Amino acid sequence: MSSIRQRKITVVGAGFVGATCAQLCAMRELAAEVVLIDILEGRPQGIALDLNQAAAVDFTGARVVGTNDPADTAGSDVFIVTAGKPRTPGMSRSDLLGTNGKVIHAVAEYVRERSPEAIVIVVTNPLDVMVHLMRVRTGFPGRRVIGMAGVLDSARFSSFIAEATGASVQDVDAMVLGAHGDSMVPMPHYCTVNGVQLSDLVDEAAIAAMAERTQHGGAEIVGLLKTGSAWYAPATAAVAMAASVLGDQRRLLPCACYLNGEFGFEGLYMGVPAVLGSGGVERIIELPLTAESRALMHKTAGAIEGDLETLRELGQL
Ligand code: LAC
Repeated sequence: MSSIRQRKITVVGAGFVGATCAQLCAMRELAAEVVLIDILEGRPQGIALDLNQAAAVDFTGARVVGTNDPADTAGSDVFIVTAGKPRTPGMSRSDLLGTNGKVIHAVAEYVRERSPEAIVIVVTNPLDVMVHLMRVRTGFPGRRVIGMAGVLDSARFSSFIAEATGASVQDVDAMVLGAHGDSMVPMPHYCTVNGVQLSDLVDEAAIAAMAERTQHGGAEIVGLLKTGSAWYAPATAAVAMAASVLGDQRRLLPCACYLNGEFGFEGLYMGVPAVLGSGGVERIIELPLTAESRALMHKTAGAIEGDLETLRELGQL
């Protein structure tokens, strides 16, 4: 990968998630150039102006370019794809399939043609299916097309654990695998507070309540906001993945990865622990699962298969 001085990140979609991703990438100086692209005229350009003016206060070095023209994304090292409609109260992520599928089709075309070496991080919902579609439409190897969700869902679990234990969230490690939907699989066995097992700190009922709240963590925010879904934590999670790739940090993060037999699944994207480095997914960690977690992983895979089938019926896959 090129040096930081030449690196380019493109954020697709200038909604709240996309704008926050652009801000974080620019302020953390993850690349020399951060391109923010949207089909809405004026919005990405306005946000870019605002961010470049913020940089004049903060003396950050990244240049933000707002555009409606895919030509400006050419040669990007990393894409963060946030474009698409968010949920409104009462909607499941799967209700967005048809609309957001079309968006992925359009984006994949210019990613493939103009940035053939890029690593693509997909945020658009329903996540596990949109990342699958992105891989199919770009034709990129699975290791270069990754879905953001496990980092977000694990962060939600971590924040609830910190609250329940009174410990700093910095010391909490939580893990959530599977689909980014109601069938996601919180993994309490892999949750610790600075090495101390969660089960040694709180009782089973409390763990179950936190796991359940995590599963509906996105909907809880949608219900409060009423006009859209969360953006700060989703953007922070996507940018953490981009940073691990761009800096070859090799962080072990739960992400939606293309499975080629791992965990017993073939040709399917779902959330699993992965090491992210300059090549994208450097390694998938196959954890030993309890019988219960294994059953939940099968259930979550079934939910993803169901969405893939709907996408096929819509003629999009
Ligand atoms: C959420 C959306 C981004 O979980 O899926 O908040």
